[in-house]
Amino acid sequence: EKGGFDHFMLKEIYEQPRSIKDCMRGRIYPEEGKVQLGGIKEFAEKLKNIDRIIIVACGTSWHAGLVGEYLIEEYARIPVEVEYASEFRYRNPIITEKDVVIAISQSGETADTMAAIEMAKERGATIFGICNVAGASIPRLTHAGVYTHAGPEIGVASTKAFTAQVTVLTLMAFYMAQQKGTITTSKLIELLTELDHIPEKIQVALESNDLVKEVAEKIKDSTNCLFLGRGSGFPVALEGALKLKEISYIHAEGYPAAEMKHGPIALIDEEMPVVFIATQNSSYEKVISNIQEVKARKGKVIAIVTQGDTEVKKMADYCIEIPDAKEAFLPLLATIPLQLLSYHIAVMRGCNVDQPRNLAKSVTVE
Ligand code: F6R
Repeated sequence: EKGGFDHFMLKEIYEQPRSIKDCMRGRIYPEEGKVQLGGIKEFAEKLKNIDRIIIVACGTSWHAGLVGEYLIEEYARIPVEVEYASEFRYRNPIITEKDVVIAISQSGETADTMAAIEMAKERGATIFGICNVAGASIPRLTHAGVYTHAGPEIGVASTKAFTAQVTVLTLMAFYMAQQKGTITTSKLIELLTELDHIPEKIQVALESNDLVKEVAEKIKDSTNCLFLGRGSGFPVALEGALKLKEISYIHAEGYPAAEMKHGPIALIDEEMPVVFIATQNSSYEKVISNIQEVKARKGKVIAIVTQGDTEVKKMADYCIEIPDAKEAFLPLLATIPLQLLSYHIAVMRGCNVDQPRNLAKSVTVE
């Protein structure tokens, strides 16, 4: 049932070109520059006039929410707040009838996310769900929603569900932009045409596997690891760190790269691997100076770079290339080598990759 792979996690990592394709099927029309989301169609009019979106989720799904924040604010120009469901529900938050709450959950059974939905619903908000498991509790609690269609995820560490959540949020951002008129049809044609080809680019990103394995070999005995990124590379860094800690038990932290000098830089020495999301986007130059700061302190730099990069290669100890893409789609690609990295490190350390200690696939207690 693992389809020839040693673990479900690896199988699910390799399924992503297909799972993302399934997630987009029937929802994007690149030639027309149109997005259709049947699940939230009834709210198409309402979306023209919303003041604010609150995203609630836990763990990896919360990281997807952070990517969603960048995309929705960039394209639909609606202010977005991303909240841990557990904090949101206990904070007496300000919610009005004009708010839309998006709850993200792979399992659709996470107790804190369900409680956050119930509270927001009582206060009159419209609730959308982004779930992977059809008919689970969360889709039944929400007013409307969009399924991720990633297929069953068996590995406890979320991989293909995360990229499918990011894909749905990308579609939602474009859909809202289309409804609000904050994007032109020609721009949508351009974006959707590229999005349509992202599954093939993910396939190419997966080809870094052998190189990633070599890097894993070099850093597998580390006790700590930092992941740094800027812009939408920041949630990717958070997700890379979470994956590493949950399956390999190496202490890892994700930070916005510019925050490094406000504290974490004190940790850097020759023992500290630092993984950078250093792709060629709007924050490229800034990330390069952050890499220089780490190198000056003898940290080991592993960089996720755009194919053909030459600048970062001069500085980094290891560079892992991913295909070039518009900034909006970089999280989908940059996540792939990080999933592979944590997988190989965990295997090399003899960890139970599919069922890490102390973790369960769905957290139904608060
Ligand atoms: C990490 C992981 C968890 C879940 C979190 C939320 O790999 O799987 O952090 O993302 O427990 O679960 P869902 O998305 O089912 O609500």
